[in-house]
Amino acid sequence: MVKVLIAGSGGREHALGWKLSQSTSVTDVIYAPGNGGTAGGKCRNVDIDCTKPANFPTLADLVEKESIDQVIVGPEGPLSEGIVDFFNARGYNRIFGPTKAASALEADKFFSHYLVRECGVPQATSLPCESLESTLRAIHQLSTNKGIVLKARGLTGGKGVTVCDTQEHALAELSNHHSAYGPHILVAERLFGPEFSVFGISDGNKVVPFSMAFQDHKRQLDGDKGPNTGGMGAYGPVPFVDAAMVHHIADTMMTPVIRKMKEMGHEYKGFLYAGMMLTEQGPKVIEFNVRFGDPECQPAMTMLKSNLHQHINDALDGKLRAQDFEYHPGASCCVVLAAPGYPDSKLIQKGKKITGIETANGMSRVRVFHAGTKKLADGNIVTNGGRVLGVTTWSPTSIDEAQALAYEACAKISFEGGVQYRKDIAYQAVKQ
Ligand code: AMP
Ligand code: GLY
Repeated sequence: MVKVLIAGSGGREHALGWKLSQSTSVTDVIYAPGNGGTAGGKCRNVDIDCTKPANFPTLADLVEKESIDQVIVGPEGPLSEGIVDFFNARGYNRIFGPTKAASALEADKFFSHYLVRECGVPQATSLPCESLESTLRAIHQLSTNKGIVLKARGLTGGKGVTVCDTQEHALAELSNHHSAYGPHILVAERLFGPEFSVFGISDGNKVVPFSMAFQDHKRQLDGDKGPNTGGMGAYGPVPFVDAAMVHHIADTMMTPVIRKMKEMGHEYKGFLYAGMMLTEQGPKVIEFNVRFGDPECQPAMTMLKSNLHQHINDALDGKLRAQDFEYHPGASCCVVLAAPGYPDSKLIQKGKKITGIETANGMSRVRVFHAGTKKLADGNIVTNGGRVLGVTTWSPTSIDEAQALAYEACAKISFEGGVQYRKDIAYQAVKQ
């Protein structure tokens, strides 16, 4: 009997729990707090919001009482608040995710920039600035005729990056950036090229990557227009990044960073997410995140054939083996169904009835992962956030088929008051 607990409530967490529940040895998947779609079968929700450090003791009590074998932390917030340190201090070591100090790889862009540079890993030339004066100097120093990038130092939920076309644009944006995110700014050279993500599992000594790359769609509207969001859809594999390039990135850009962290006394066990850009000089790191991507996790879990529970156990034991990872053939596509108004949180209405999930889930090779949903006492599912569902498909043959199937399934689902979604997820990969 093996019990696992997933901390978090989004589509990423639903996908992780779904994949873990496929393992015959796993008998219970407990979500804290989960969402309207995560309970059922082997899976159940407990009403503990793990994003609040004040709830870490309650969660640790539950883990002890239920004799939970493995805890997986989904979002970066609790990791950078020290959830892993808290559990470790209570003598519990089967929690998967980096410690607070190691989470600085995502939570502190100055630290991350320093570490990546120390390891000789390709990234944008950047200058950490702690005052308005030094930021102005850095903008003058690093601006080219192709622009410049301003990045907030801390966690900003994906919003703290301003990509500027010109030096004048950067200077004009500076005071907004400053008042929104404070004086600590990483000024970075602007890079160009297609973006993709590589996901790996670190066992403290090395990173074993998922052998394929994924692409997110961060903008709200078709054709990559509109404001940035948490992600409106994702697919994989990315056709222009082959397995050899993914392994090259893991071996020469991810593992060295993990080794360096170990030397510094910050052993890193957990998922590692490398946001990459394929520049004319080759792949460069844009950022590291200390978690799985959301929604990239949904297609990644769909493509993974081997046993995630075993991989995580091996990582916790420091003996992960690349040869144990297996994948399904073909491709996976995830389309996010969002509430009208998203990403403007003031415009999102909660409590709108959702219909058609069962019909979509009844289709072959379709799985609807829940994110911002809630199940009412009468069994109805209602909206409970901005990104509501991730309609995820698998095709054993092609991304074209996975995409077509996803849109067929999306058409079966409606929200009272309307639904919004992009109609072009995976356009980069689908044959024109
Ligand atoms: P980050 O939060 O660092 O991933 O940045 C968010 C987004 O900003 C990335 O996905 C890129 O689209 C863009 N970005 C960040 N850094 C750079 C850079 N140095 N050059 C061009 N675009 C960038
Ligand atoms: N999909 C982007 C992220 O998880 O940050």
